[in-house]
Amino acid sequence: MKNIRNFCIIAHIDHGKSTLADRLLEFTNTIQVTEGQMLDDMDLEKERGITIKSHAIQMEYTYKGEKYILNLIDTPGHVDFSYEVSRSIAACEGALLVVDASQGVQAQTISNLYMALEHDLEIIPVMNKCDMASAMPEEVEDEIIDLLGCKREDIIRASGKTGMGVEDILAAVIERVPHPVGDDQAPLQALIFDSVFNSFRGIIAYFKIENGVIRKGDKVKFFNTGKEYDADEIGVLKMDMMPRNELRTGDVGYIISGIKTSREVKVGDTITHIARPCEKAIAGFEEVKPMVFAGVYPIEAEDYENLRASLEKLQLNDASLTFQPESSLALGFGFRCGFLGLLHMEIVQERLDREFDMNVITTVPNVSYMVYDKQGHANEVHNPGGMPDPTLIDHIEEPYIDATVITATDYIGPIMTLCLGKRGELVRQNYVSGNRVEIHYRMPLGEIVIDFYDKLKSISKGYASFDYHQSGFRPSKLVKLDILLNGESVDALSTLTHVDNAYDLGKRMCEKLKELIPRQQFDIAIQAAIGAKIISRETIKAVRKDVTAKCYGGDVSRKRKLLEKQKRGKKRMKQIGNVEVPQKAFLAVLKLD
Ligand code: GTP
Repeated sequence: MKNIRNFCIIAHIDHGKSTLADRLLEFTNTIQVTEGQMLDDMDLEKERGITIKSHAIQMEYTYKGEKYILNLIDTPGHVDFSYEVSRSIAACEGALLVVDASQGVQAQTISNLYMALEHDLEIIPVMNKCDMASAMPEEVEDEIIDLLGCKREDIIRASGKTGMGVEDILAAVIERVPHPVGDDQAPLQALIFDSVFNSFRGIIAYFKIENGVIRKGDKVKFFNTGKEYDADEIGVLKMDMMPRNELRTGDVGYIISGIKTSREVKVGDTITHIARPCEKAIAGFEEVKPMVFAGVYPIEAEDYENLRASLEKLQLNDASLTFQPESSLALGFGFRCGFLGLLHMEIVQERLDREFDMNVITTVPNVSYMVYDKQGHANEVHNPGGMPDPTLIDHIEEPYIDATVITATDYIGPIMTLCLGKRGELVRQNYVSGNRVEIHYRMPLGEIVIDFYDKLKSISKGYASFDYHQSGFRPSKLVKLDILLNGESVDALSTLTHVDNAYDLGKRMCEKLKELIPRQQFDIAIQAAIGAKIISRETIKAVRKDVTAKCYGGDVSRKRKLLEKQKRGKKRMKQIGNVEVPQKAFLAVLKLD
């Protein structure tokens, strides 16, 4: 235990976390030098620059003649996955805080830093990319000192590109990060901080042992789910899984126990022995529940079963994804999917597209509402279309969140205006340091799922971090806003909105749809309505689109090519009544200016 160090890296996106991690792995000979990055193994992750799922890797390193085990636990860096980040952090005793020497401290790092401080992690500040011509080492050091209250000499100057500082980082991890503490003799208590699905082995759960010892073949129980298993294989994580017969307090490792679905293994759960269980679970466990819902429909009706199979496969390694069949008058048969947040939704959409080649239409996301009827019964509704007739509703409650925004003082004004516009109530405001402010709002989650991040990012020039946790349901005056195309209500375009915003939203939706729906051979009326009352209208004028007009030469094969091209262009369109509606129109509400 004395020679174990468990640590993670926290950094703003693109500040060089993955590159630096690679250098650590190379320097300790954990991996051989190769092109590319080793920690993010999904293409998608690389492209998005976001580590979607945390992983862990063990390094061995000899320092001043003594051999050490260094476990690097990777953390995802986005608010949708903040619970998973908190569990990864809970498994560590220290963290490298990586800051780009040309960018300085960015707000996104701060909420993870706070989480690390809450768990009493030792923070090692690292100024990365010192090789860059645009590096501003003095200024950035000042910022780091401001943020952490550390000494200048505590900050390690490094470069993931040249390898500068890597040796110092390893030395600091050993000297400054405390070794894990715990009792080898106590009943087993191991924290599950992540799990992955493997098509041959089933679910592999990653854990850190807080107390006790686990041996291969032990009969174990997962405390919160109450399920019992045999520890068929346990081991440590290097580039591959390395089986072991025994793991002790402070160790980070994996367990394989014939679990088939990701839903059985909950991040944050505690592994203990059946025969000699621990008294209580490790604190901090939460059930993650999807908070954002959207309809996912195949473009071609015959792809429905394929879509179901694809979603089932995705769910094998993504327990936070839920789905159930749903049908829409406009879009036919599809599924209502539940996601952790907007980013999670985008990831699922992209994976469906890339890994499963599914051509789908996704509807506007919404949250889940509690709808009370006149008899006082509550119903959970995940879909505007599922709203009962307004005359039957007594009142509706919607989920609220406590939101924290950390930003520079320059942006307070516009951010407050944005939050107010999203029905936010200011709870408090305080200074973090010099020119950084922390603003707390209570606001409806439903307002966050619609274009909040993008707006926050653009008005703060990226210099704002946002984090939230749920704070229960509250009554709200919501109405269902319907959109009609040529008199026909399009259920997939309905939204629930606060009564005060309904007129404005209706008007802007009609204007946006007018932009997004291509002209056709007849006039198209776009209307917004609340119940039977039309509140806004736009008209798309007819046009006769003669695609062959350009080919005056009369070359038949060219003509045919053009016609085929036009036919393909239609693929992403959905026929609604006699109107062709492109996919982006279904997300119009997200794109309002
Ligand atoms: P996320 O996974 O998006 O959080 O990014 P990251 O923090 O893991 O950053 P990553 O390691 O992917 O590096 C981001 C970019 O910076 C890449 O283009 C790297 O090549 C570059 N980069 C990383 N470290 C250095 C460095 O020390 N010097 C220079 N010049 N470039 C670097």
